[in-house]
Amino acid sequence: MKVRRTRYLRRGRPRAVLFTGAAGFVGSHLADRLLDDGYRVIAVDNLITGSEKNLEHLHDHPRFRFIEHDISEPLEIRERLDWVMHFASPASPPKYLKWPLETMRANSTGTHLLLELAREHRARFFLASTSEVYGDPKQHPQPEDYWGNVNPLGPRSVYDEAKRYAEALAMSYHREFELPLRIIRIFNTYGPRMDPHDGRVVTNFIRQALANEPLTVYGDGSQTRSLQHIDDLVEGVARYMKVEDPGPINLGNPEECTVLELARLILELTGSDSDIVFEPLPENDPTRRRPDIERARKLLGWSPKIGMREGLERTIDSFATTAAPAEPLTAARTAQA
Ligand SMILES: NC(=O)c1ccc[n+]([C@@H]2O[C@H](COP(=O)([O-])OP(=O)(O)OC[C@H]3O[C@@H](n4cnc5c(N)ncnc54)[C@H](O)[C@@H]3O)[C@@H](O)[C@H]2O)c1
Repeated sequence: MKVRRTRYLRRGRPRAVLFTGAAGFVGSHLADRLLDDGYRVIAVDNLITGSEKNLEHLHDHPRFRFIEHDISEPLEIRERLDWVMHFASPASPPKYLKWPLETMRANSTGTHLLLELAREHRARFFLASTSEVYGDPKQHPQPEDYWGNVNPLGPRSVYDEAKRYAEALAMSYHREFELPLRIIRIFNTYGPRMDPHDGRVVTNFIRQALANEPLTVYGDGSQTRSLQHIDDLVEGVARYMKVEDPGPINLGNPEECTVLELARLILELTGSDSDIVFEPLPENDPTRRRPDIERARKLLGWSPKIGMREGLERTIDSFATTAAPAEPLTAARTAQA
């Protein structure tokens, strides 16, 4: 492991990060952290699934700039970049199923163009991949050297296979051009600024519980999820930026619970009287997911600090105090056109 002392200044100016997907849930928290750490942040997003609201508080920041742009199209940046961090992609199943081709383009053409941009600027490349590259895993928990069990033709493949392609492409640039690379595989992450309508299990349950609507459990609820709070993910990314290793590195919380346990915990924490209803399991829905985080522990000295109860309490508080955002899907179509 090579740990570098981080320098945030290059010849007297802050290091610059081009960050794609900055208006999304994960990206907006990382933009905050990068600015806190002294970087200049050029945020790029086409708002297909993100919202400018997530970045509103940064608009007057002297080291922040927002560019509305689809990263599947070439992007010219004049100022010298030190990092290209690629987090732009629809990420929740209802959204990538609604925008299958846009999802594939963001992770294929988008990744390719951004790798070229990084090469041109001699910048480091950071790729946000996903635990979905393990598909419906046959090995449990999932270490990074597990190759996965993905249906290449199923409806979810537009996301899973696109991310696998993005990893392969980034790794080829690393091998061929010695492009400095970091790949993370993010496991289910939750926290404030998630879109309440993104169709993910945590947001569905919290939104339904707060509205006293029945909580929808798919299947019998015995499938498991491992949920990571956003602050733990952000800390993992910040640490990884200081370590020269292409990865991939799993970032997730190994604390595992069944979907039914999660539903009951959210009912308890919200004090909701909602019922739980059961609906058929969607096709290729993973039955078990849990990260093996040994590599992150060793390389980054990182492990998650926020337990599920505490993390969910914080998230429920933020949902309860934030007005429901406008339905984002129609706006996103317009923004892309
Ligand atoms: N949240 C999770 O649990 C999780 C898990 C695994 C991986 N990830 C990865 O993390 C990244 C961020 O996920 P998120 O949960 O914040 O999702 P999100 O939908 O909230 O954010 C994604 C952002 O990317 C933008 N985007 C999408 N396509 C784009 C394009 N072509 N050009 C420019 N911008 C585009 C969207 O508008 C949005 O702001 C994604 O790459 C996702 O695959 C997230």
